Amino acid sequence: MSTPTDLHRASTTAPVNIAVIKYWGKRSTTLNLPTNSSLSVTLSQSDLRTHTTASCSHSFNSDSLLLNGSVQDVAGARTQACFRELRALRSAIEEKDAAEPKLSAMPLQIVSENNFPTAAGLASSAAGFAALVRAIADLYRLPASPTELSRIARQGSGSACRSLFGGFVAWEAGVEEDGRDSLAYEVAPASHWPSMRALILVVSAEKKGVSSTTGMQATVATSALFPMRVKDVVPQRMKRMEKAIHEKDFATFADLTMRDSNSFHACCLDTTPPIFYLNDVSRAAIRAVEGINAKAGKEIAAYTFDAGPNCVVYYDEENEALVAGWFKAVLGSVEGWDGARGGAVAPMGEGELG
Ligand code: DP6
Repeated sequence: MSTPTDLHRASTTAPVNIAVIKYWGKRSTTLNLPTNSSLSVTLSQSDLRTHTTASCSHSFNSDSLLLNGSVQDVAGARTQACFRELRALRSAIEEKDAAEPKLSAMPLQIVSENNFPTAAGLASSAAGFAALVRAIADLYRLPASPTELSRIARQGSGSACRSLFGGFVAWEAGVEEDGRDSLAYEVAPASHWPSMRALILVVSAEKKGVSSTTGMQATVATSALFPMRVKDVVPQRMKRMEKAIHEKDFATFADLTMRDSNSFHACCLDTTPPIFYLNDVSRAAIRAVEGINAKAGKEIAAYTFDAGPNCVVYYDEENEALVAGWFKAVLGSVEGWDGARGGAVAPMGEGELG
């Protein structure tokens, strides 16, 4: 096949982020606006990431999206919202400067590859939409900042807005009805706390039973615990978490991370019908972290779980032997282990933690 003469192309990667204060609940499903603010740590680019190439050409028949080699539906409201917003920004550039090629009128072709299991509670939609938005923004040469792009990525998937930044990232829920103040911002760059590590225990690489989107709306509609989480619990934790990060206070960071994961999963259990994301292996991982902390006499490890059974354990590099070493010893060989920031991915079988 010959290359079309009007082909334009840009490629980028976006990493996964794992929330330590969880986003769970929408106040607007149309604009994908959250009920509460959230905060996450972005894993390093060398680990779990989506690589995306965005192309446009008059020779393409229609917009298309290929994820890990399989054709995805682009007609969905979320993908459409991202395409529409990015095209509008590009049109504004084209209207101002007649010499600019009319890229906004060309069909888009998006090709994405994840280097980790899709939809297994490993934040694949976060890296996916962040990479999609940034690749198109680069293709269109938009002068948009990561914060501006976060407003668009949020409409693809809420957690995606946080993957446009590295390091420690907050997503401010905002109060405006049109969502213009529901944006992500950097709390601290990765270089602020370079010894922070994330160990990812892959309990299951299977697609999760209840999607985040469906699960969180069921929680909003039925959980009696949820309003308290949104009104009191999360706002206080956001402030304390930002302070703990600024002060590199690992014990407080760990305490808040574990409490918030438990609060989120308690709300899931309090949903009708109840949502179970954790399984026996997840619970064994919790007990293992509790055991490591009890032995150390302080919090040196923090577990957290998204909408799936996989466990992410945060720790400081100074405790590598006590935390990652412990899991490595129990689990035997640890695939993909490179000791880099967020670089340890350990597959766990049923019962391996005993
Ligand atoms: C448990 O961002 O996947 O991972 O906005 O509906 O796409 P949508 O939801 P999504 O939800 C993520 C939920 C979470 C917590 C978090 O990442 O903050």
